[in-house]
Amino acid sequence: MPSADRIRAIRWEEGQLCLLDQRLLPQQETWLKLSDYRAVAVAIRQMVVRGAPAIGITAAYAMALAVSEAGTQANWQACLLSAADEIKAARPTAVNLAWATDRQLALAQSASTAEQAGAALLQAAHDLLRDDIADNQRMGRYGAELLPVEGGILTHCNTGSLATGGYGTALGVIRAGVSAGKQLHVYVDETRPWLQGARLTAWELQQDGIPFCLNVDGAAAYLMQQGLIHAVIVGADRIAANGDAANKIGTYSLAVLAQYHQIPFYVAAPLSTVDFAMPDGSGIVIEERPAAEVRQCAGHAVVSEGVEVRNPAFDVTPASLIAAIITERGVARPGFQAALQALAAGHMQV
Ligand code: MRU
Repeated sequence: MPSADRIRAIRWEEGQLCLLDQRLLPQQETWLKLSDYRAVAVAIRQMVVRGAPAIGITAAYAMALAVSEAGTQANWQACLLSAADEIKAARPTAVNLAWATDRQLALAQSASTAEQAGAALLQAAHDLLRDDIADNQRMGRYGAELLPVEGGILTHCNTGSLATGGYGTALGVIRAGVSAGKQLHVYVDETRPWLQGARLTAWELQQDGIPFCLNVDGAAAYLMQQGLIHAVIVGADRIAANGDAANKIGTYSLAVLAQYHQIPFYVAAPLSTVDFAMPDGSGIVIEERPAAEVRQCAGHAVVSEGVEVRNPAFDVTPASLIAAIITERGVARPGFQAALQALAAGHMQV
């Protein structure tokens, strides 16, 4: 098992949710201990915890915290409903956040007392965390089959243990490929403005001893032109029913580049990231984050006063540019609508 499988960013200890503060990595490993769901929603918005599956798991714990607070009120179910709205509003793009919150809400609504709901929601959050790791390991095994026996793999943002319960989605596929004996060299996009690639993916790969190098986002086309990249693999925050996939800003450009250079472009994500209610990517809400994130780099101001900024945090890659979507139940190929539905219905595909 690769050493980085020991990396965990979310844990529950003595009635508190502990989150590894990802804003400070890799320089500092600081854990925040939270016992109020509102503080958890703020932590999600402020990127203490990030990555679609990780914010889903965090939301599940936030709901467990919310039910113990709401439980002191006669109208505890109504209080929980408004807590759920607050948690879901923390970030709009990753569907896992709303998915996990709504699942917890439904569980609470089926309980007869607040105490019963509290115990059920906490257990469900623990289960979600445990199952996410197992699902990622399965996804890794399916995805590893698609990677070349040797070659360069380009990835964007952070999709590893830090972005999930553990092991990772796209990074989990890379881990599984290396564990299976493939000779892979990972090219890590630094991923402006939060530098999830430079700060987080590089940190995880270093601990695993997987060969990699870091490049600026703008280097991707050159690296492909030089013949160094044999596959691109990324995660997703929301996949529409037709396979259009929202992911970290810059992903769409990689998919366009990959098509031009005839390199396969893969998306790895759990089925909880598929939003079957969203027919295509045009309806996906793209989070716009504060301009200050772009005006600075690693805490240092880089532009003069008054410069106007756009800071969309995600973009949508059309399904037509995606060679396969790797899930915990198997691999969906183009004709994604039917393939994803079949996987969700429990039909395995490889
Ligand atoms: O803004 P972030 O860091 O939450 O964005 C994360 C990503 O875009 C990831 O690629 C995605 O959530 C998949 S994580 C397994």
